[in-house]
Amino acid sequence: MSEPVDQVPHTAVPHAGVLGWPVRHSLSPRLHGHWLTRYGLPGSYEHLPVPPELFAPYVRALVAHGYAGANVTVPHKQAAKDLCDTLDPAAAAIGAVNTLIFRHGKIVGRNTDAYGFLENLRQARPGWHAGDGPAVVLGAGGAARAVVYALLEAGAPEVRVLNRTVARAQRLAAELSGGPDTPVTGGPLDPAELAEAALLVNTSSLGMAGHPPLDLDLAVLPAGALVTDIVYVPLETPLLAAAKARGHATVDGLGMLLHQARPGFEAWFGRAPEVDAELRAEVLGALAAR
Ligand code: ATR
Repeated sequence: MSEPVDQVPHTAVPHAGVLGWPVRHSLSPRLHGHWLTRYGLPGSYEHLPVPPELFAPYVRALVAHGYAGANVTVPHKQAAKDLCDTLDPAAAAIGAVNTLIFRHGKIVGRNTDAYGFLENLRQARPGWHAGDGPAVVLGAGGAARAVVYALLEAGAPEVRVLNRTVARAQRLAAELSGGPDTPVTGGPLDPAELAEAALLVNTSSLGMAGHPPLDLDLAVLPAGALVTDIVYVPLETPLLAAAKARGHATVDGLGMLLHQARPGFEAWFGRAPEVDAELRAEVLGALAAR
């Protein structure tokens, strides 16, 4: 007779990985491998390629085999949410899960993208506060949902979502609505919309290697506005280059990738890891070698 899943003994050494299809390109094994080595911890973290039709049974098999958990990337982030026994508030609000934690046969789903976005800004610009003024978010996909959620949680007084498909921006704004004192609105990719922004965030795929650049005139963006991009290939996107040339402070997107990995590592391997220059250099080296 087979044992109930929650009585299968966990292996002494924690195992985790990243679920995706395809997933070979994922830098997560580099990140977690770096931390395991640096802190001298037992454990493994590997690529876990799984096609959509096998996602649910595959995850259940990981649970049954005593895995500690997994990261989830494209195209499984919504499917992962549906599989979880419990969700953290970020995953529930964003509607996607990027971190699975297996405990006593149950699946806990978290979304750490919002956390990673905020931690990146806080580490790169220690004086930055979401409450400093209105934020403008470019794009209305899954990444935008995480960023808007993060900004509202962190106390942004107003969020304006600009997107090529305006209806999608309006839908996102309505779904993540910040309440009567915190307007969240959707609109077109119109440069005039930048006039009062304290923070400008690109979450669209524009500016990513292989995609068209983001062609948005920054002339009316207030001089003190911080500009950040969640795209990190290239590290300096055309948007960040244009913002820098106009004298704006800028933050690149690589740190979001590094920081979003921290909560999973801590849950699976038992130590809160740090994001520092050494980790950044290793990941940049891996990107350059592609
Ligand atoms: P993700 O979930 O990673 O955020 P996505 O859902 O594909 O990815 O969203 C990509 C974003 O980039 C969208 O906001 C998309 O705009 P639309 O909603 O209008 O499709 C935006 N985007 C992609 N290519 C674009 C282009 N050529 N011009 C303007 N926006 C573009």
